[in-house]
Amino acid sequence: MEFRQGAVENLDVNPRFWQGKKVLVTGHTGFKGGWLSLWLQTLGARVTGYALPPPTDPSFFDAALVAQGMTSNVGDVRDLAALTAAVRQADPEIIIHMAAQSLVRPSYADPVATYSTNVMGTVNVLEATRKHSGVRAVMIVTSDKCYENTGAQREFRENDRLGGHDPYSSSKACAELVAAAYRDSFFSGRESAGIATARAGNVVGGGDWSVDRLMPDAIRAFGAERPIQLRYPHATRPWQHVLEPLAGYLLLAEKLFTTPASHAESWNFGPTADQVMTVANVIEAVAKKWGGGARWEPAPGVHPHEAQYLGIDAGKARSRLGWQPRLDIAQAIDWTIEWYRAWRDGADLRRVSEMQLERYSGLAIT
Ligand SMILES: NC(=O)c1ccc[n+]([C@@H]2O[C@H](COP(=O)([O-])OP(=O)(O)OC[C@H]3O[C@@H](n4cnc5c(N)ncnc54)[C@H](O)[C@@H]3O)[C@@H](O)[C@H]2O)c1
Repeated sequence: MEFRQGAVENLDVNPRFWQGKKVLVTGHTGFKGGWLSLWLQTLGARVTGYALPPPTDPSFFDAALVAQGMTSNVGDVRDLAALTAAVRQADPEIIIHMAAQSLVRPSYADPVATYSTNVMGTVNVLEATRKHSGVRAVMIVTSDKCYENTGAQREFRENDRLGGHDPYSSSKACAELVAAAYRDSFFSGRESAGIATARAGNVVGGGDWSVDRLMPDAIRAFGAERPIQLRYPHATRPWQHVLEPLAGYLLLAEKLFTTPASHAESWNFGPTADQVMTVANVIEAVAKKWGGGARWEPAPGVHPHEAQYLGIDAGKARSRLGWQPRLDIAQAIDWTIEWYRAWRDGADLRRVSEMQLERYSGLAIT
């Protein structure tokens, strides 16, 4: 694979920057937060986490022994007092807020919990930041689902209208508005922390066991030697490996820390248009890699609304952060299945995950 130099100075996550940095990650017990916390540990950062216990069993957090290299606090982002105390104790320079009710279908079942976690959780993170000097950069992770999806087959840009048909998507649009209002109201001074939001799409990677997500559903079904049932086989999504947006978050956090005023805005991270594939195509590739006659079938019944087309334009992150995807969807699937096979075979998953991080970082300099 070949990588072109971007229009800006720094293409890669910079270990010199992260060495010794005090970073608070909310949602560190989750799939993306676990990978990010492990990555930060390998970069030499001093990582503190704040989240509820892992949302699944098994979990990436437990499987890869993420707690070993960090301070892990169990707490609710809806609890402002506890969160403020955790921020005070960690005294972070950078906060990456990922804790969320992260799934569409459960948001239909419990919209109140979804809004309170995703909206008030974001308010509380910003409020705790406001009350603690020393924080230079806050990255709020939202979603590509925060845009108003009218069904038009085009990629969303950062200045497109926010919306959201279901409670999850709408809660992420609300989190965007909260971040913008806090930025304008409380963080616009010269010495203020930079507040940025990051909108990424569906990710795949080892260690996700969430319900109602494609890859974990496939691993569960194929492991039990039954076909995976697909609700919307022809829906397309901008698939990418979990390390891709995480690399973007780290690049953005560094820029935000260094020059807050120039980067305190919203950013898309997503694959190039040719990596947008239908659900059925992705699962066929996974099934082939897994082997043993793995296959899919249409799920019976009527399903809640989900956007049929979702694509985001990451041109701004490419041109201004020097970020670009390094793995195509076939590689992303390979790395994911490799991880789950290692899990199935009882391998040392901290080492397996660290090796994938090393391999990913190595790709930048080929
Ligand atoms: N995984 C994806 O494909 C994807 C795509 C776009 C955006 N995102 C966003 O990225 C972030 C991380 O996603 P993920 O896939 O790791 O989710 P996840 O469900 O695996 O993890 C969620 C994390 O949030 C924590 N959490 C949930 N409610 C909480 C509460 N009330 N207080 C404290 N902690 C709480 C959980 O304990 C866990 O650590 C989320 O904000 C999600 O919306 C994920």
